[in-house]
Amino acid sequence: MQVDVITLFPEVVTVPLGASMMGRAQERGLLTLRVHNLREQGIGKCRQVDDQPFGGGPGMVLKPEPLFSALDPLRTDRSRVLLLTPQGRSFHQRDAERLSREEHLIFICGHYEGVDQRIVDSCVDEELSIGDYVLTNGAIAAAVVIDAVVRLLPGVLGDDESASQESFGASGLLDHPHYTRPAEWRDMKVPKILLSGDHAKIVAWRAEQARERTRQNRPDLL
Ligand code: ADE
Repeated sequence: MQVDVITLFPEVVTVPLGASMMGRAQERGLLTLRVHNLREQGIGKCRQVDDQPFGGGPGMVLKPEPLFSALDPLRTDRSRVLLLTPQGRSFHQRDAERLSREEHLIFICGHYEGVDQRIVDSCVDEELSIGDYVLTNGAIAAAVVIDAVVRLLPGVLGDDESASQESFGASGLLDHPHYTRPAEWRDMKVPKILLSGDHAKIVAWRAEQARERTRQNRPDLL
């Protein structure tokens, strides 16, 4: 998958996505990540990328010309352009699944008060928010979305099974609890059923635990 990111803070994207699974996905050619510094498209000697909002109010707005200059050479008829903003639609696992089937994603990272609406109206396919809180910088949100999408690409996770059995997988529930050795630690024992070797009973116990956990932590998912 080809991913382009337009941001004022390239390292906010390149550092986390250069480590661990995302780093390996890049080394193995499963992810081609290109991060573009919006400042390079800034206007004039000061490389201006933002300006005061028409109509007044606090903060600055990203100007349309630098964003368009960064975006235009990247776009083809096979790319999907995403804007990260708290005003976007909530990003869910099903969006990660849908986006993992795209060939080319382009992320525009909002900053300050936002981006000039004319860029949204003319160039953006969808606006996404990663949650009901405000970050300093859409690049943090882009790194989150890219990780969630790229880990679903075939070959990125070590064991293809693990993407389907986890929270928000086919069941739509949270994941069940996990235990590993030792079977007893600080007087706390692993549930006997997990040591029983009875696979059917283990599957039923895990399903029940997943339902219970979802009821407690995320009843909205039921
Ligand atoms: N930029 C700032 N806050 C954000 C959020 N919650 N989601 C996506 N982009 C953002």
